[in-house]
Parts: sequence; structure tokens; C-alpha cells
Amino acid sequence: MLVRLDGPGTLVEQIYAALRAAILDGSLRPGSRLPSTRALASESGVSRTTTQAAFDQLVSEGYLETRPGSGTYVAAELPDGSMAASRTAATSASDAATAMRLSAFGRTISERRLGVPNPDYPVRFNFRYGLPPVESFPYDVWRRLMNRQIQNISLRSLRYGPAEGAQSLREAIALYLARSRGVVCTAGQVVVTNGSQQAIDLTARLLVERGDLVVIEDPHYQGARNVFAAAGARMVPCPVDADGLDPDFLPPADAGVRVVYVTPSHQFPAGGVMPIARRLALLDWAARSGAVIFEDDYDSEYRYDGRPIPALQGLDGGGRVVYAGTFSKVMFPSLRIGYVVLPPGMLGPFAAAKWLADRHSPTIEQETLAAFIGEGHFERHLRRSRAANASRREALLAALAGEFGDRIQISGSNAGIHVVVWFSDVSADLTASIVTAARAEGVGVNPVAPYYLSPPAVAGFLIGYASLSESEIREGIGRLARVIETISSTAPR
Ligand SMILES: Cc1ncc(COP(=O)(O)O)c(C=O)c1O
Repeated sequence: MLVRLDGPGTLVEQIYAALRAAILDGSLRPGSRLPSTRALASESGVSRTTTQAAFDQLVSEGYLETRPGSGTYVAAELPDGSMAASRTAATSASDAATAMRLSAFGRTISERRLGVPNPDYPVRFNFRYGLPPVESFPYDVWRRLMNRQIQNISLRSLRYGPAEGAQSLREAIALYLARSRGVVCTAGQVVVTNGSQQAIDLTARLLVERGDLVVIEDPHYQGARNVFAAAGARMVPCPVDADGLDPDFLPPADAGVRVVYVTPSHQFPAGGVMPIARRLALLDWAARSGAVIFEDDYDSEYRYDGRPIPALQGLDGGGRVVYAGTFSKVMFPSLRIGYVVLPPGMLGPFAAAKWLADRHSPTIEQETLAAFIGEGHFERHLRRSRAANASRREALLAALAGEFGDRIQISGSNAGIHVVVWFSDVSADLTASIVTAARAEGVGVNPVAPYYLSPPAVAGFLIGYASLSESEIREGIGRLARVIETISSTAPR
């Protein structure tokens, strides 16, 4: 666990305040073990005396307790008043929300906490999902192109632009998708969005009424499930296997499904790649049922084994597929640029919804990105990061095999920047303790259970590998193995 040390106060006060806040907001749970003062000192770059002083203060106030020979733990019972204070703050926030008489949408997202990001803990070996290889991005090229864009800026670029996005970028995206993903479209069908998340959101607003049926994969991307849930959809889970969503389990064609949300090129999070026969069966079902397919192609640029299968969109004769992609995984997520390829009937409404939501995505970034793609930098960066990720993936698979042998099953390793690792001999009940203990050892992993509607029986973790070096991957997996060993050997049977 890393503590940020750029705030006010002495180092001891900052470490004390960060740990106390984590205890009060529940991210450090009662009874959980803290990293040793030595480990925390080395992770945070301070002396051990400093971390020891902060621990001593928290022990003396009753937030922490030490168990000789075993370590320091968050107290099972916290000092009087401390939880009450944080609970009072939460209660008054929910009272205030009630007093505002929120809309059905507002109530749904606040009561079910649908728009709250997962906390991001700084850890030294961060295997958490969604971190692309940002270190190797060619910032010098990006800076040069952005400078050029600003130096040659025209008045046109400073005024509002079209809701659909900059024409130069729409053309660059259409050509790239035709070249690399088998998408069949004109630039006129492309709308630039603030990430693919906005593509999901605007699609839900345009297609889904409260109470409508939406099919989602089980397991699935929570960011999509939450958008459809916020729109009031009734969710119909469809199981996936090693070949992705299984169309045999779709509801009957006359059930009235409005949208099927699917990740056919690298099922999120389980990793299956949908073969052509299933793609055709899904399209056939969509044609019979009148449902729209939302194809989320979020990371298939990274493909390691086997030939890429063309996007569903390119196989769709009936105009029922909304195809979305993003630059978050192949460039960097704070860019907030994604895109959607629309069937002709949705183009006007989608552009209108985008205009209402935020007018359009920022023009200078869009034009810089168009140049970055048009001058070949994007695909060069992609080739380099694909090769680097392939080596990291090899290192990860070797480390997992070395530490765990045949105790584990790995899925989803032939594309993307994460895998799912299942421990068939570790009960799902131990997942939370493993995640907490791993964090204390400086290792960040996501449990896979939250991505399922019906939680799995055994422990599984999402392991992202694109932002770590090969040696960090080996060290991090070694630490994870020791944590799992300790926790599963001490768990009651
Ligand atoms: C499966 C999937 N779809 C969509 C997104 C949204 O990405 P963005 O809005 O950054 O383009 C993500 C982000 O992690 C994702 O994992």
C-alpha cells in the first residue's frame, strides 16, 4: 500500500491521516492486517521510524492493534464516535439527496451507487484491470503534433464543431476500421464520443425505456450494466463460455429484447473470442427479434494467437449493429476519445443526443489524433505495444505456471491486456482477504466475482499486465503466491 505524501503536515501526520481515513471509509476493514512498518516505509519512500511513529499514534488511539509475532491489524472495534462521525456524514448526504427529489434516473444511480468508480489504491505491482502501457506512449510525437495543431489553429477550430466529430478524425477512423477490423462503414456513419462509455450511455438513452429487456453477458463489463440499469432496463443475463456469449441461451426471438450488449472479440472479462458460426447465429437472432446489438470492441487491437475474426458489424447485412471502439487501451484513457459506427437509422438521433449531452468532443485533440493516425504513428505505436505486451503476457503466463502449476486455470490470454486466473482449490469466500492482504504486500488485483450476476464458487482474479515490466510481473506474482498460500493454509476448512 502506497500513501500519498504530497499534502500538508509532517510525514508522520500524513501517514497517520491517510491510514485513519482508510479505516474510517472502510477501505481498511476491521480486523484486516496492515503491511509491516518496514514494507510501508519502503513502498512510500520514508524511514521506518516515520511509519512506526504513525502506527504508534493509531495504536494509542485505538484504531490499530498489534498482535505479537503476527503484525498490526485494524481494530475489530473502532474507538467510540469515529464511525459515528463518518456515518453521520453519509446519512446527511443521503437525506440531502432525498430532499432534492431526484428523478428516477437520479434515484437509481444514487441508491444503487451505479456511478461510483472503484477506489484506486496506489500499489507498487498494479495488476488491476484497465491500465494500458502508458509509459511507452510516444509523447514527443504527440506533443509535436499538438503544437503544430495549435500553431496553425484556425478560427474554425475554436468555434463549436459538429456533434459527430471532426471530419478528419471520422475519416481516419473509418479507414483504420476497414483496414484492421473488417468494419464496413463510411466516415459519415462514425461519431466521435468521449470514450466508448459515452457510446454505451447515448445508445441506452436512445433505445431503452424503463422496464425494457437488455441482454448482457454473464460475466460482463460493469460500466455497461450500470448504464442500462440506470436507464431502468430489466437485465437478462446470457452465459458465456470459452467462445464468448452463447446464442443458444438467448431469450426467444419474440421476448421483446431491445438491446444485446456483447464483447465478441475478447469477451470481458472472461476472454473468449466468438467464432464466426456464433456471430452469424447472433445476427440471425437479432434480425428475427428486432433487437439492436451493441458490439463493444474495447481491446481487440491486442491479439496474440489466431487470426482476427471480422467485427459483427462487418457481417451484419440488416443494419442492427452499433459498433463501439476506444483509444483508451491503445493510447491513454484520459484522452477520452472513442467512437461509434452507427446503422443509418440511428445516425441523426445519436448526433442529436451527443449535441445535447456535451456538444462534441474537444476539437484540438480530435484533429491531433487524426494526424497521429493519418501519419502512421498510431499503427506504429500499436505494433510496438503489441510486441511489448506479448512479452509481458509470456512473462505473466510463465510466472503463473511457475508459482501455481496446475492449481489454476487461465482464460482470455490470447487477446487484450488482462487474463482471468481461477483457483479451483481456493474458496470464493477468501477472495476479499486475499485482495486486502495482497494490497498490503504492494500487489493490486481485481476479484472477478463483481463482474458476475451469480457469483462463482471458487476464487478468481483479473490480472492486467500491460503497465508492468517483466521483472515486476515476476516479483508481483511471487508476492501474490505467498499471500494466497498464507491465507488458504490458515483458513478454516
Ligand atoms: C469492456 C469495456 N468497455 C468499455 C470501456 C470504456 O472505456 P472508455 O470509456 O475509456 O473508452 C471499458 C473500460 O475499461 C471496458 O473495459
